[in-house]
Amino acid sequence: MILIFLGPPGSGKGTQAKRLQQDKGLMHISTGDLLRDAVKKGTELGKKAKEYMEKGELVPDELIIAMIEEVMPEEGGFILDGFPRTIPQAQALDRLLEKHNKNLCKVFLFDVPEEVVVDRLSGRLTCTNCGAVYHVRYNPPKTEGVCDVCGGRLVQREDDKEEVVRRRYKVYVEQTAPLIDFYGKRNKLYRLDATKEVQEVYRDILEVLKDGC
Ligand code: AP5
Repeated sequence: MILIFLGPPGSGKGTQAKRLQQDKGLMHISTGDLLRDAVKKGTELGKKAKEYMEKGELVPDELIIAMIEEVMPEEGGFILDGFPRTIPQAQALDRLLEKHNKNLCKVFLFDVPEEVVVDRLSGRLTCTNCGAVYHVRYNPPKTEGVCDVCGGRLVQREDDKEEVVRRRYKVYVEQTAPLIDFYGKRNKLYRLDATKEVQEVYRDILEVLKDGC
């Protein structure tokens, strides 16, 4: 089962992908997490990606496509979280899937307005050690500033400052939203009301997945 989670920043893609990974054993491939890891390790990719990420811009397609080619597993299903984000990335994914003899199952569109995005990201906390995600109000950790999963330190992501979040949302509308039509025309797209509570969104995803691919 190969799924794409598409949607604006802060729409809950990562939160839902982690749940589905645990319950269904699907691999979770988040381009944002992979890039942040590369930045942390100071790799060539990380050095190139850093300035784009800090400004809320997209990292160039050729870097992202090469990274996906490297991590895409030969066996088993996976969730693509934050990829593709442009039409050239979607076309590259088509070529990659064809090469590996795989089929895309479904694309979930996480639908939320800009003000919800700003509210969610201004309260998001991320674990510096394991990447677990919390929210100061909607999903607080048991102990303030400490990750429930691994005890790591919780921080606000650099690109979660309001002006960067608004830029990221604009970039989504301009460069990523055209994918709604791209996948809609193929009857692969399922729109989720991602303003609902975490558990309700998850139930909606499971409901759609009941029909298989
Ligand atoms: P990336 O890390 O992919 O960021 P994003 O798409 O902007 O998504 P987020 O991680 O911000 O949000 P999310 O939808 O996963 O929401 P979450 O579940 O955390 O990308 C970062 C940067 O990397 C990009 O700006 C770009 O520079 C680069 N990049 C990455 N991929 C790229 C690509 N393919 N091409 C080019 N560049 C790329 O939830 C958010 C908050 O809300 C959390 O606090 C959570 O607890 C809370 N929450 C979640 N669901 C709910 C709910 N239902 N109700 C209430 N609160 C909720």
